Amino acid sequence: MSDPRRVLRQHAETSRFFGVDFLPVTIDHPASIDQPEPVAPQSTQPAIDAATGMADGEADGDTAAALEALRREHDASCPHCTEQIGSITQMVFGEGNPEADLMFIGEAPGEEEDRTGRPFVGRAGKKLDEIIQAMGLSRETVYIANVLKSRPPNNRTPLQPEVDACSPYLVRQMQIIQPKVIVTLGGPATKLMLNTTVGITRLRGQWAEYVDEARGLAIPVMPTFHPAYLLRNYTPETRRQVWSDMQAVLERLGAR
Ligand code: URA
Repeated sequence: MSDPRRVLRQHAETSRFFGVDFLPVTIDHPASIDQPEPVAPQSTQPAIDAATGMADGEADGDTAAALEALRREHDASCPHCTEQIGSITQMVFGEGNPEADLMFIGEAPGEEEDRTGRPFVGRAGKKLDEIIQAMGLSRETVYIANVLKSRPPNNRTPLQPEVDACSPYLVRQMQIIQPKVIVTLGGPATKLMLNTTVGITRLRGQWAEYVDEARGLAIPVMPTFHPAYLLRNYTPETRRQVWSDMQAVLERLGAR
């Protein structure tokens, strides 16, 4: 039988996500989901092996070191982001637990993200935080990144050449983390991870897979609406859809 306290807590979290904001939020993490300790970024500067293209930590399983090496490589050489220097404040690599089971992938940094260097910290980010909290998780235990690592002018949708230039770094980031589940937030992330041109409205809520045969990776992907879309279309229907997608994610992670 289900633990009644957990059922009540889940009910409260669900209600809150649906807009009942007066309910107190008391979250502790579901026991059955792996909640690895957040790992502090490394201060050393690992190298990239020219032969394998792997960062130092990647080969020996040190994901924090591998991510840090990738960040340095990206910031020095990403064709999209380095060309934008001048029109951006800083690059936004992504953040969270290098060992996360769950990875969220958004579109591109906006104004607040560009100012702070952190993904999803503006209005859409607050909504994403609520969703993560309602799932009984925290920002520190998941990983959050974007298709583009620097803000497109006037927050416009990423152009294909921008995605082609910058997204290989996201893909490597994801290959280093190897999450158990990826949630793609909105069209650009979904199109990239599933290599499709089908729109998000048709794909959301249906499990798909990111496959990298060379690395033996097959990671389940749950496409859902972008939090910014949710904010613009804040209806019971869109909230129910996103919440149902997140319930499916929790089930897949073994948390329900
Ligand atoms: N929207 C995104 O897709 N990513 C962010 O980091 C912020 C807003």
